[in-house]
Amino acid sequence: MPNPIAQLFDLKGKSAIVTGGALGIGQAIALRLAEAGAAITIADVNLNAANATVEQIKVQGGKVQAVQADAASVADAKRVVEMTLSAFGSIDILVNNAGIFPFSPATQTTEELWDKVLDVNLKGAFFYSQAVAQKMIDAGRGGKIIMIASIDSLHPTGNLAHYDASKGGMLMLTKSLAVEFGRYNINVNAIAPGGIQTPGGESQAATILKATGMTPEQMVKGFVSRIPLGRMGAPDDIAKAVLFLASAAADYMTGSLMVVDGGYLLS
Ligand SMILES: NC(=O)c1ccc[n+]([C@@H]2O[C@H](COP(=O)([O-])OP(=O)(O)OC[C@H]3O[C@@H](n4cnc5c(N)ncnc54)[C@H](O)[C@@H]3O)[C@@H](O)[C@H]2O)c1
Repeated sequence: MPNPIAQLFDLKGKSAIVTGGALGIGQAIALRLAEAGAAITIADVNLNAANATVEQIKVQGGKVQAVQADAASVADAKRVVEMTLSAFGSIDILVNNAGIFPFSPATQTTEELWDKVLDVNLKGAFFYSQAVAQKMIDAGRGGKIIMIASIDSLHPTGNLAHYDASKGGMLMLTKSLAVEFGRYNINVNAIAPGGIQTPGGESQAATILKATGMTPEQMVKGFVSRIPLGRMGAPDDIAKAVLFLASAAADYMTGSLMVVDGGYLLS
């Protein structure tokens, strides 16, 4: 008997870790998953912002904790997993969202910057997935792992070769883990956001404006003119797709990439 629609998106009794859940896309994801009933661990380097998001979720009656953690640290990933288990008793959903996208022409990218971007975006997604999957396997009730990749997983952007390499890697990581974890009923899927208005996106835009001499209007107009739906994305556009992938509605999806870009890649 299929689940009634009202139950499909009900995450009560489940718990989720959202890396980089303090601001931007991760914050919107934490808010939506909490609204669906999941207990949330926000794992973020920015503890002040994470605590502010915790307060927002608490006001709505959600169960939530903030943990200061660097996505690039394997020790932090293990600590976040243990703290989630001890606070909420299970881990059912992992959203690997923490990511950085510093603008840097390839000829100027230092080894330090390359390592930092790959460590946060790709190594972090792998070791969080490893730590969470082991607990999901031990508990024997499956789970959902969701990667926040990028349209750059499929299509390059200039001056972001380091980022594009990390997001291309994240797509293959998704497929590879989907093959390996399928037998444990762990679904591993990815989302490719297009241009989403977030604090990180805005600070990157400021850097690009400085480097190119464009006006903000020229930049937004140039980007938006390529989007068939005619607007930049909002963090909640991505959160709604995450809610779907985290829910029973996506039980037969694994190894997939959902593009949520207003149609940008079509042009
Ligand atoms: N904004 C976009 O247009 C866009 C497009 C495609 C993909 N994405 C991806 O979406 C994700 C979120 O992007 P965003 O625009 O919301 O970014 P953002 O910079 O607005 O927010 C990122 C959040 O992650 C946290 N964070 C940064 N480094 C961290 C680390 N090392 N460990 C833990 N937390 C860390 C920040 O404190 C912040 O709370 C990233 O993976 C990004 O690559 C964003």
